[in-house]
Amino acid sequence: MDIGVDIIEIDRIDRLLKKYPNFRSRFFTDREISYCEHKKYPAQHYAARFAAKESILKALGNEQGEILMLRDLEIINSRSGKPEVYLHNQAYTFSQKHGIKTIKVSLSHCQTYAVAVTQIIT
Ligand SMILES: CC(C)(COP(=O)(O)OP(=O)(O)OC[C@H]1O[C@@H](n2cnc3c(N)ncnc32)[C@H](O)[C@@H]1OP(=O)(O)O)[C@@H](O)C(=O)NCCC(=O)NCCS
Repeated sequence: MDIGVDIIEIDRIDRLLKKYPNFRSRFFTDREISYCEHKKYPAQHYAARFAAKESILKALGNEQGEILMLRDLEIINSRSGKPEVYLHNQAYTFSQKHGIKTIKVSLSHCQTYAVAVTQIIT
């Protein structure tokens, strides 16, 4: 069991979204993009998801340096709005190999910052 945390300046993500057309598809899944784009301030939600993915990487530790793509760590909200983590491709394989049962994540964002905390249960 391990934890991870990350904080992101929303302006930084906003600039990347505007400057690089492929920023979205490089780091986010279609479902994540759809969720964020339907919000009033998409950058806040993209930033929170980016922070979540980084916090998951921290919690995973990954001391052997296995290559994990941020896009394979997907954050999808349940009906109640609670964010849930779905793993794909190498990230899924990694979780199986290391006996990870659950990854819990919590997000928060204001105008300036987005933060995420992850707990991994093995
Ligand atoms: C859930 C709630 C506390 C979020 O607080 P907030 O101050 O408005 O917003 P924050 O910026 O701190 O957090 C926003 C994030 O909270 C998360 N969130 C939303 N609903 C959630 C829920 N039911 N449980 C856990 N996390 C939730 C989401 O990840 C959201 O970000 P996202 O839309 O980018 O995914 C608030 O919407 C609320 O009080 N809702 C009504 C009561 C409720 O459903 N409570 C939770 C279950 S008891």
